Amino acid sequence: MEIIILPTAQDVGREAAGKFADVLRRTPAAVLGLATGSSPRATYEALASMVAAGTLDVSHASGFALDEYVGIALGHPESYASVIDREVVVPLGMDPSKVRVPDGRAADIAAACADYEAAISAAGGIDIQILGIGSNGHIGFNEPTSSFASRTRIKTLARQTLLDNARFFANPNDVPTHCLTQGLGTIMDARQLVLVAQGAGKAAAIAAMVEGPVRAFVPGSILQHHHNVSIIIDEEAASELTLTDYYRYTYNNKPAA
Ligand code: GLP
Repeated sequence: MEIIILPTAQDVGREAAGKFADVLRRTPAAVLGLATGSSPRATYEALASMVAAGTLDVSHASGFALDEYVGIALGHPESYASVIDREVVVPLGMDPSKVRVPDGRAADIAAACADYEAAISAAGGIDIQILGIGSNGHIGFNEPTSSFASRTRIKTLARQTLLDNARFFANPNDVPTHCLTQGLGTIMDARQLVLVAQGAGKAAAIAAMVEGPVRAFVPGSILQHHHNVSIIIDEEAASELTLTDYYRYTYNNKPAA
């Protein structure tokens, strides 16, 4: 794992955006894995600045969202379909027909999940996936005890996640109780992973994920088994790590590739 500790949330966004830009400049038709939530916003803003400046073209790329609430109206401002459209597709100038979000309104949920997995495979797999992390260690919506082998499926949100996500809804009781999420196995199949986190509220989850044992109770800890993963965090999110001197030295003295 590459652990990159930077002073501010904006620095985190710029660094993560740089990794996406590298992939997109090499492979304009890259397949992007997209996350919602507050964590990746600075990354999307940094990418949007490059697009606006004419130094990056995302129009040939395709995208797959990590997750979606079950039963939420497509046009609801907090459906992940709406969030991805508003925060990613429009500002990055992506082709909306090339961006998919799991169908949380499907009558046949199992079929919708199988179809989503098939679509990712048909696209050739995900080249680079951005991730946030929940305060309970979840990635996507893979809550504690999710199987490391899991694929896209329905999950029940943990109480902590319902509380954390209540801030996005007018009434806390409006937070949907279920979701569709790429599985941990799906996420691990991406060729490159970039996890971003900011703030003290993520410090315990980051420490458990990076320096703790690999265990299903901390879903993000499975990333320790990925061959190309960068954990890009600000000082506050890094505050419970123990080996920070080494991570800083490694980043500042990185051998040329
Ligand atoms: C959300 C999403 C995750 C996200 C995490 C943290 O509910 N399903 O993809 O990474 O929880 O959210 P935030 O970035 O808003 O802290």
